[in-house]
Amino acid sequence: MHQEIEKRRTFAIISHPDAGKTTLTEKLLLFGGRIREAGAVKSNKIDRAATSDFLEIEKQRGISVATSVMTFEYGGKLINILDTPGHKDFAEDTYRTLSAVDSVILVIDSAKGVEEQTKRLMEVCRMRDTPVIVFVNKLDRDGRPTFELMDELEEMLDIRVRPLTWPINMGQRFKGVYNLYEQNLYLFNPGKTVVEDERRLIADLASDDLEQEIGETDAGQLRDDVDLIEGVYEEFSVDEYRAGRTAPVFFGSALNNFGVRELLETFVQISPPPAPRPSTLREVQPDEATFSGFVFKIHANLDPRHRDRIAFLRVCSGRFERSKAFLHVRSNKQMRFSTPYSFMAQKKEIIDEAFPGDVVGLYDRGDLKIGDTLTEGEQLTFTGIPVFSPAIFKELINTDPMRDKQLRKGIKQLTEEGVAQLFTQRIGNRLIVGTVGDLQFEVIQHRLNAEYGASCRLKPLSYYKACWITADAKKDLDDFMQYREPQIAWDKDDQPVYLAESQWMLQSIIDDNPKISFRFSSEVA
Ligand code: G4P
Repeated sequence: MHQEIEKRRTFAIISHPDAGKTTLTEKLLLFGGRIREAGAVKSNKIDRAATSDFLEIEKQRGISVATSVMTFEYGGKLINILDTPGHKDFAEDTYRTLSAVDSVILVIDSAKGVEEQTKRLMEVCRMRDTPVIVFVNKLDRDGRPTFELMDELEEMLDIRVRPLTWPINMGQRFKGVYNLYEQNLYLFNPGKTVVEDERRLIADLASDDLEQEIGETDAGQLRDDVDLIEGVYEEFSVDEYRAGRTAPVFFGSALNNFGVRELLETFVQISPPPAPRPSTLREVQPDEATFSGFVFKIHANLDPRHRDRIAFLRVCSGRFERSKAFLHVRSNKQMRFSTPYSFMAQKKEIIDEAFPGDVVGLYDRGDLKIGDTLTEGEQLTFTGIPVFSPAIFKELINTDPMRDKQLRKGIKQLTEEGVAQLFTQRIGNRLIVGTVGDLQFEVIQHRLNAEYGASCRLKPLSYYKACWITADAKKDLDDFMQYREPQIAWDKDDQPVYLAESQWMLQSIIDDNPKISFRFSSEVA
């Protein structure tokens, strides 16, 4: 068991859209022997331009199931890559997936540097001190000066950085990367897609060999850069990386499969094995004898005639076994799964057992929710799956009174899948749907119709944010809610939220009600 745990590396690749996440994933799978040629991994991004075509959305949902978890072996390690949707409207899905990984690789476009979504994703990683490796991509194009980029990473991502490789020029003049630790030079050969080695050992940077390889000017520049790096940055420490305080940085070009091997080889050496996980009762260690795990993602069956869904379970401790009865903590009922499967890029395989770090696909008939915990009897619930305030709110209005039941059931199930958040107002029984982006509303309307035969109208509401409200004394909370009733709604776990109309309004409400605490995020409990 200890060996099984030590072998596993479960991580996600995150980036702002277009930085090269899909391309890098594909190259990693190529090294892992899971795919034979480039182009085999389809992008899981939902293209704005294609959204008017719902067949396209269905297709893309299909792709995102197939590529949700990709497993391969490399360097004696069993690597699980958890895919995350690229489109910002589906960022919530990404945040939840981040609760199920032990580390991340962050891809940065060398010309664009830190982008909006890079920052938000990193904030989520910082919340849990998730170890981060940075891959600066697209060195085959002209990008930003490298030291400037390092400073920007540190400043904007709130983490120390430590380059482990260093580029020699970029764009047209890109010659390769120098590995600061192995002291070898890896020469760039554009357009190469096969896996082959082209390293030159440069044991001494001062030797003339360097001039021979990259010419006088670049050799001089590289020596100066390396001096500066050694002077400015602290010695790389695996402990600092694993504690989430320092991010090692690699450079390359995913498209040209360049610098990816360095990244992967270092990753298998330094990345953390499955980590302990916080729960309502205690921290759960992966090597505990009894099984525990939690659901971080739910995906609807693509065939609308079958209502069953696929729940993604991260194994946290012990051994998951097929057909064994486990406690579903929220309902306090026993559940068995006779056809659990693992996700081997593109194909599903029934499995008999799984270990900490693994992700198991469970068929679900509507009993499981995001955040649900399964154990061998202990009444604990894993914490740390974040829910953020939506940015756009719309009222869901039924346009077919004969199918009200279907509409309510449909929206409940879709929100359980995490497509959007649902808030209910007691006055008038109003249903308010909150999302991160407009795209989700299109998906909701389409799926309610296609899968539940329900039709609806979505009326825009001018709320700015939903804040989860609590107070030490129940009476204070009750008074506040009574007074502000038109702005109070209940989330799917029956937690009260205050729907603020503007930032200014919210601030004055916060100032006027010191006994009430307002939170912009909640945790699935
Ligand atoms: P994402 O998943 O992060 O959204 O990015 P993705 O890998 O899809 O890459 C976005 C675009 O950047 C793609 O081009 C891809 O080919 C390109 N790209 C990725 N890595 C590199 C690199 O190292 N160098 C250069 N020059 N380009 C790179 P596209 O035109 O949008 O798509 P496609 O038609 O090539 O698939």
